Order: sequence, then C-alpha cells, then structure tokens
Amino acid sequence: MLDAQVGTPAVTMRGVSRAFRPEGEAPVVALSAVDLTIDEGAFVALLGPSGCGKSTLLRLVAGLDRPDAGKIEAPALASQEIGFVFQDAHLLPWRTVEENVALPLQLRGVNSTAGDHTARVREALREVDLESAARRYPAELSGGMRMRASIARALVTRPRLLLMDEPFAALDEITRHRLDERLHELWREQGLTILFVTHTIFEATFLAQRALVMGRRPGRILRDVILDLPEKREPSLRASPAFMREAQQLLEGLEEASA
Ligand SMILES: Nc1ncnc2c1ncn2[C@@H]1O[C@H](COP(=O)(O)OP(=O)(O)OP(=O)(O)O)[C@@H](O)[C@H]1O
Ligand SMILES: [Mg+2]
Repeated sequence: MLDAQVGTPAVTMRGVSRAFRPEGEAPVVALSAVDLTIDEGAFVALLGPSGCGKSTLLRLVAGLDRPDAGKIEAPALASQEIGFVFQDAHLLPWRTVEENVALPLQLRGVNSTAGDHTARVREALREVDLESAARRYPAELSGGMRMRASIARALVTRPRLLLMDEPFAALDEITRHRLDERLHELWREQGLTILFVTHTIFEATFLAQRALVMGRRPGRILRDVILDLPEKREPSLRASPAFMREAQQLLEGLEEASA
C-alpha cells in the first residue's frame, strides 16, 4: 500500500528559464523551461558540461538570482534554513576561522546570546574536525582546511538545504575523498537535503543517491539517474564492481548530454 504521507519537496522548479543579456551581445539562455523536484532529505548531484547552467540553477534556488519565467519553491529559503558553499572558500582574510564561521549568525542577528553563538560555532567546527584551527587566519590554512571552514560556516545556521557549487574542485584527490566521506556522514547524521554540483563522475557516484545531467545550452536536464548503491558509503566502495557500474552509467549519460 502506498504511504499517504508524502513529504513536501525541498525544491520544486516548474518551467524555470533564465537568460543573460550582455550588452552588445546575443542573449545567452542559461536555463530553458527546467522542471525539477528534489525530495526532502535527498543527496542530489548536478553534472554537465561547462557553461550549461549548473551554477545558474543553484543561484536561483538560493534566491541569489531571479528567473525570467517559471516558478521555484524551496521552503528552506523562506525560513532562512539554507546554506551555500562555493568553489572558493570565500573566507574573510582578516577574520579568524571561528570569526568567519560566526559571520552568518551575526549577519542574521540570530535571536540568541553571544554564548549561544560560541557554542554553535564550536559545534560547526567540530563537525568538520577543525576545532584545533579555530584561532588561525585563512592564510595559515591548507586548501582543504579552508574548505572545511567554509562548510562549517554554511552549517552554523543549521540549514535544511545545502547548496554546494564544485566545493572541492581545487583540492587534491585524497583530500577530496576525505571531505566527500565527511560530507556524506554529515548528510546522514543531520538529515539535510544536498544539491551538489561537480564535474567529477566518481565524486557524484560516491556521494549522491540521484544524479541530474544537464546538456549544452539552452540548459536543460537531460538525464535523471538513480545511483543504486548502499546508503552508507564506505571508502572501500570506490573499488567495488557496483560503484564502477554506476559510475559507468553516469559517464554514458554525461557523454550523451555533452554531445
Ligand atoms: N551574470 C551573467 N552574465 C552573463 N552571462 C552569464 C552570467 N551568469 C552566467 N552566464 C552565462 O550563462 C551560461 C551558464 O552559466 P553557469 O555559470 O550557470 O554555467 P555552469 O554550468 O555553472 O558552468 P561551469 O561548469 O563552467 O561552472 C554561461 O554561458 C555563462 O556564460
Ligand atoms: Mg558553475
């Protein structure tokens, strides 16, 4: 029997279009009538060739940009329970790690005492194993540590929806693997919904339950792939036949979408 309690989706897009009109140039259609539903609690990867509209889609969901047509619903945006992690860590160089992580709480003027802020910052740093670097400045951190600080800053407001735009693209592969593993654990622990842009098929396969593949302009979602892998992703999964099979399936989808 079907369960009657179907939850509210975390993101709904209906007929969403967005074009850019650079002065003196032809308009660039970044998204064309995109329809998409993302379930609450899902981990979804978004892939596609460069310039196909992935960042545009994320920025629209985050409310950082507006569509020309169509409708977007993301309940977490209305309730300010949304976090955004960019490719660059975007830390303020004159603030320590803990001061950077505290920033969203200060900007929101969260209704709480300074003591609450401190506790939340400490918890967010613990979640990414960065407590020992709390008093350091961004210039004193490795790239991986800077990214962890950026994730802690996104988690500090306890978002329900986390939007990540190629967050680990600039890191070496081993660091990326460790961060992917930690992110996946955080997702399981916290019941977050995550929409994660990546160019890396293996990363998408390791992290996500579902992968959306966008095609060349005008930006559309051409493939919607379910990744049939265990919910708990152990590092050893990467060497398993099942992982290779799912990655291969995704590669074929990406090749078709990029043709
Ligand atoms: N503010 C803007 N002004 C003009 N054109 C833009 C703007 N933002 C995006 N575009 C154009 O829209 C298209 C989609 O851009 P978008 O950044 O969403 O691509 P992407 O899939 O994230 O690419 P990448 O993988 O390289 O990050 C591109 O052709 C880009 O040049
Ligand atoms: Mg992009």
